[in-house]
Amino acid sequence: MDTTVLSLGDPLAPARKATAEMLRERNTSFSLPQPFYNDERLFQIDMQEIFHKEWLIAGMTCEIPSKGNYLTLQIGDNPVIVVRGAEGKVHAFHNVCRHRGSRLCVSEKGKVAKLVCPYHQWTYELDGRLLFAGSEMGADFNLADYSLKPVNVKTAGGYIFISLAKEPPAIDEFLRTLDHYMEPYDMENTKVAVKTTLMEKANWKLVLENNRECYHCSGSHPELLNTLLEWDDTNDPRASQEFKDHVADSAAKWEAEKIPYLHAGFGLRNRIVRMPLLKGTVSMTMDGKQGCKKLMGRIQNPDLGSMRILHLPHSWNHCMGDHMIVFTVWPISAQETMVTTKWLVRKDAVEGEDYDVARLREVWDATNDQDRRLAEENQRGINSTAYQPGPYSKTYEFGVINFIDWYSERMLNNLGEESAHVREASVG
Ligand code: FES
Ligand SMILES: [Fe+2]
Repeated sequence: MDTTVLSLGDPLAPARKATAEMLRERNTSFSLPQPFYNDERLFQIDMQEIFHKEWLIAGMTCEIPSKGNYLTLQIGDNPVIVVRGAEGKVHAFHNVCRHRGSRLCVSEKGKVAKLVCPYHQWTYELDGRLLFAGSEMGADFNLADYSLKPVNVKTAGGYIFISLAKEPPAIDEFLRTLDHYMEPYDMENTKVAVKTTLMEKANWKLVLENNRECYHCSGSHPELLNTLLEWDDTNDPRASQEFKDHVADSAAKWEAEKIPYLHAGFGLRNRIVRMPLLKGTVSMTMDGKQGCKKLMGRIQNPDLGSMRILHLPHSWNHCMGDHMIVFTVWPISAQETMVTTKWLVRKDAVEGEDYDVARLREVWDATNDQDRRLAEENQRGINSTAYQPGPYSKTYEFGVINFIDWYSERMLNNLGEESAHVREASVG
């Protein structure tokens, strides 16, 4: 008997059907119906169909620099461990002991020689093989039957991507491009200068929607607008000639320095583009001056603007000349989301000499908190009986439209696969 598939059946089956129906019938230029933002069943479906199937950014390779370094994360109900094994290889596993299922690594990060379960000390190699289970298991016990369950993992451009899916979506073309765009940064020789974790009382999609438009920027983000230019596309109908000239001047310099900058898109899931910051500023700091004296990798010119990397469902990034910022979004419940922000600098930069953490994080601490308040107020209004989906602006909110289109397409696709799978199982 395959003991992995025993369950009481799917209590979410009716909710899945209703979710698919709502997505098929939605008005594509309006925000989603209320249950998408506040229903616990729909939240569970989001976790199963999006966060347990898509590629997620688990962290940065520089966070697990050498053999035995690990980091852990929690994706819905699923604890995961990412560990650096022999010859620099990055492995990912379900952080679940094959004995009686205890969580194996309990710290957020650390360094180990082997992975040892705290419950009865079953011991695993860094590549997941069970090495030791004590003599109590009997003579016919076969260690090889109880390796840790692997999680798909890929690395590119200093990022670690994981997917819990049996068959994760294609991502290699994006990863090759990401590698190319991150080359100037020498990501193996960077470090996380500081990391913050922000809890927001809002559905994860509201956090993403808020990030995908700058319609709200002028009313909410004075610190960010010291340096950020609202548009990230010269084809944006709002873009002025002055902006286009500024982009062209910057692009000519980057071209000469072999710094990748051209817009690269991969469906609606991923995009990379480098855009200049406001004229006269080089970094997202309060005064627009460098936040770290040492530039990253092989970069010579501090004026690299910001390379923006989008990875749906849950990450946006700003890579400047002196530092970069990685944001990841982790759904906790229907109306609770965790946002982590990491500021990275080159490894040999010295705190207090080359950079000051308070100065480095100032702009995005303020911006994150402003965005938190906006998302929470958005959630409060959506919870009202008066809420009904409202129209997106095609000019200002095309990024939100793209995100919701991507989400809807993935949900329908993944729900469809699921129902086909269930049908097949019940016929068989
Ligand atoms: S549950 Fe891990 S050793 Fe028993
Ligand atoms: Fe914002």
